[in-house]
Amino acid sequence: MSGSALSGPPLSGPKGYPIVGVLPMLRANTLQFLVDAARRYGDLVPLRLMMSTAYLLNHPAHVEHVLQTNYKNYRKAPMIDRLKPIFGDGLVTSEDEFWSRQRSLMQPSFHRKRIEALAGPMVEVTQRHLDTWRMRAASGLEFNLSEDISCLTLEVVLKTMFSSGLGEDGPALSRALVLANEVISKRVWDLTSLGSLLPTKKNREFNKAVALLRGVVERMIEQRRATKDYGNDLLGILLEAAAADTGEFMTRELLRDEVITLMLAGYESTATMVAWAIFFLSQHPRHLEALRTEVDTMLAGRAPTAEDLKSLDYTRRVIQEVGRLRPSIWWFARVAVQDDIIGGQPIKAGTMVLISQYLLHTQPSIWDDPERFDPERFQAHNVMKRSKFAYLPFGAGPRVCIGSGFAMMEMQFILSMIFRAFDVRITSDANPAFGSFLSLRPNEDFRAVCTARRRH
Ligand code: HEM
Repeated sequence: MSGSALSGPPLSGPKGYPIVGVLPMLRANTLQFLVDAARRYGDLVPLRLMMSTAYLLNHPAHVEHVLQTNYKNYRKAPMIDRLKPIFGDGLVTSEDEFWSRQRSLMQPSFHRKRIEALAGPMVEVTQRHLDTWRMRAASGLEFNLSEDISCLTLEVVLKTMFSSGLGEDGPALSRALVLANEVISKRVWDLTSLGSLLPTKKNREFNKAVALLRGVVERMIEQRRATKDYGNDLLGILLEAAAADTGEFMTRELLRDEVITLMLAGYESTATMVAWAIFFLSQHPRHLEALRTEVDTMLAGRAPTAEDLKSLDYTRRVIQEVGRLRPSIWWFARVAVQDDIIGGQPIKAGTMVLISQYLLHTQPSIWDDPERFDPERFQAHNVMKRSKFAYLPFGAGPRVCIGSGFAMMEMQFILSMIFRAFDVRITSDANPAFGSFLSLRPNEDFRAVCTARRRH
């Protein structure tokens, strides 16, 4: 347990309304509400929600306690169940022994070497996608950058998962993923599960999208299993992992759930960070120049490979800084299984604790001039000065993101390939508001104009 005493001084927090507590404020503007609460009330803030009190944890030691030291005592909050109709029993939504066995089975598939074997298809898809930017550059027309990058990361996940392509199922599968993503992002906020039960047009479309996704993925799994030729893509790697155990353990349904989970967990969060990275670089010419010098020197005009990832070090630091200021997943919740003590405060079984990456990443007591964009914060000597739990764009502890290596590689490739070939000017708001969505994307999509880069 973190904290030395069994009960600390009484904590204060925002007042809220009778009965509902702070819920209306939390729902109206989650980001601003949590920022204000943390700045005003400190490391451990009680938040009254209906009949219970949740705690907002703003100290890295408290976060370490929940995510690492005593993680077995904390389960994901009930709103995660809203994702079950599509994520099924995949890693994001499962718990306890079931999760633990499944995570051990999947972990080797995400070993660095295995992920690096996906570099070729990743670069190929990005190159093909950026060929369409040549037409954009020639036309000089403004385009929706956020949407374009989402399409790209979706193409990447589909190509790395099913290298052989999906044939005529491809476009329908992409549409189903986008629709499912949109619906579940809203459902997490739905306090009752009533919204998902109503026979609305959106719900019918969602159910159809889930059926289609499941059908296509199951068919792909069956085809591969029948030929026993698993292939070198992500699906092949997972099939091998499934077979390496007793063969019984990862059933077809479970493998299907894991495949859908990986596709959904991966594409939008990566796209959000790439789009912000382009935005920040367009605002900071000095950092853009440094990134370009690195890309020009290390790649000398050719496409990147897995071997280049180490030398694209500045590019990596830019991405890490973007992950600090705009972590796509910016808060999550856990519920205590048994009574506990955090920072001297008794936490009763059933109590919810909230952790916000965005708050930790912009806390003035941890980060010097937190709003300043500065990739140098991620030089090794600076990283060593901070708690590991002060920076967690991919979460932390045993439930840390399994796809972080995949996402980092993808983002390094995409950014180096964009900026070696193009200049990008953001034409939408220079000071965009954010925080209205489940992921930390801007409230209005980014718009941009690109031009072919003139080399000096
Ligand atoms: C920039 C992109 C990404 C970000 C910011 C991100 C962030 C996160 C975070 C914060 C968690 C932990 C959530 C929690 O503890 O409640 C997580 C879990 C997870 N992520 Fe990611 N993720 C990204 C990309 C990906 C990709 C590309 C994949 C798959 C290829 C992926 C698959 C998963 C899975 C399966 C989990 C659940 C792990 C478990 O509970 O065992 N993510 N991610």
